[in-house]
Amino acid sequence: MSDTASVRGTVRVPGDKSISHRSLILSALSDGTSRISGLLRSADIDSTASVLRALGVRIEPSGDAIAVVGRGLRGLLVPKRPLDCGNSGTTARLMAGVLAAHPFDSTLTGDASLSRRPMRRVTEPLGKMGAHFTMETGADGLPLTIHGGTLASIGWNSRTASAQVKSAILLAALNAQVGASVTEPVRSRDHTERMLAARGVPLVVDGESVSIGVARAMRAMDTHVPGDPSSAAFFVALAALLPGRTLDMPGVCVNPTRTGFLDVVQRMGVLVSMIDGFDEGGEPTATIRATGTDSLRSVTVGAAEMPSMIDEVPILACLAARAEGETVISGATELRVKESDRISAVVRNLQAIGVDAEERPDGMAIRGSRSPLSGRIETHGDHRIAMAFGVLGTMPGNEIDIITPECVSVSYPSFWSDLRRVA
Ligand code: S3P
Repeated sequence: MSDTASVRGTVRVPGDKSISHRSLILSALSDGTSRISGLLRSADIDSTASVLRALGVRIEPSGDAIAVVGRGLRGLLVPKRPLDCGNSGTTARLMAGVLAAHPFDSTLTGDASLSRRPMRRVTEPLGKMGAHFTMETGADGLPLTIHGGTLASIGWNSRTASAQVKSAILLAALNAQVGASVTEPVRSRDHTERMLAARGVPLVVDGESVSIGVARAMRAMDTHVPGDPSSAAFFVALAALLPGRTLDMPGVCVNPTRTGFLDVVQRMGVLVSMIDGFDEGGEPTATIRATGTDSLRSVTVGAAEMPSMIDEVPILACLAARAEGETVISGATELRVKESDRISAVVRNLQAIGVDAEERPDGMAIRGSRSPLSGRIETHGDHRIAMAFGVLGTMPGNEIDIITPECVSVSYPSFWSDLRRVA
């Protein structure tokens, strides 16, 4: 390729989903008005905003930003109806923690996918703190009725590395004004910790453990949400599949608890750098630059790296389909309880388009090839499955048909137009 315009491209990915949820929730619990710019506008974030509105929080446009009028700790109002979390696990689990410390009953509901996802992982520690729950189906999922009230402090050893579980406990303790500590097997994303500390809440992080102290109030704060590294990952992969192509994603969160995918693709032979770094409200932020090379190699990824790249496994698997050799992903059982069973969904879809892939209890093995791939992708309504196979579908020679492509609205509504522009 001689035309530099065709070998370089820039994609401004939307705001980080995890930070957007937390910005709305922490602003709602603060004293005063917080303005949030760069907030992700997507179905999942709409779910958190509408749940907070149903609990008496004013959230309104303010120029290019969103203004949230905080109600203070334990200041939410009794909801008049069930709280619909849509497809969003982060909304359901973080709000379960917040509501466990409010002295009223509330019911969380969700769509068919979310209703099947496990909630015991949060009701168990919150129950130990003193909250009561009714699972209306008798199963582990939604609807879930929370009978909140006075809570006691807790020291919790989490079986899974889950930022949603950790955050639910921290938010319950924050509102109940008690101390809590959470220890994880491997440290999960730490946005809640960073954001609480920035708002003046006493917090100590020590390896895989975090302890929160008692805060009497939390101050409002204006913030900017950096770009989402999990959305940028699709364009890192696109560059990786196009030797010589460089893509820049400016203003992306490069918090080390989120950049495992960048480490893994570098081992596969992709050139990745983080340039023009700066701090965005306690979150390291940079331009991610990715350049594809001629030799994409297979890779081995295990449990220790999984939390820092958990949402990027579908796109890693699609890259592996084009890499030389066998890629093995293990220690990823958590993928079975995401928006879909991502181990089964990824492997079956890879097989459906002609890739040699094998499902394993805690992961998968994929043998890459250069032969053209074609077939239909069953997304199960899972945004990350749609986007991962969408990237593979742009490769010359591949004919990949994505069923329900509109499910990307959960985290990245403009994904298809951004992809068409740079592919
Ligand atoms: C998230 C945590 C992760 C991740 C999800 C967002 C968060 O889930 O997969 O997309 O914002 O806390 P787990 O906490 O269940 O691992």
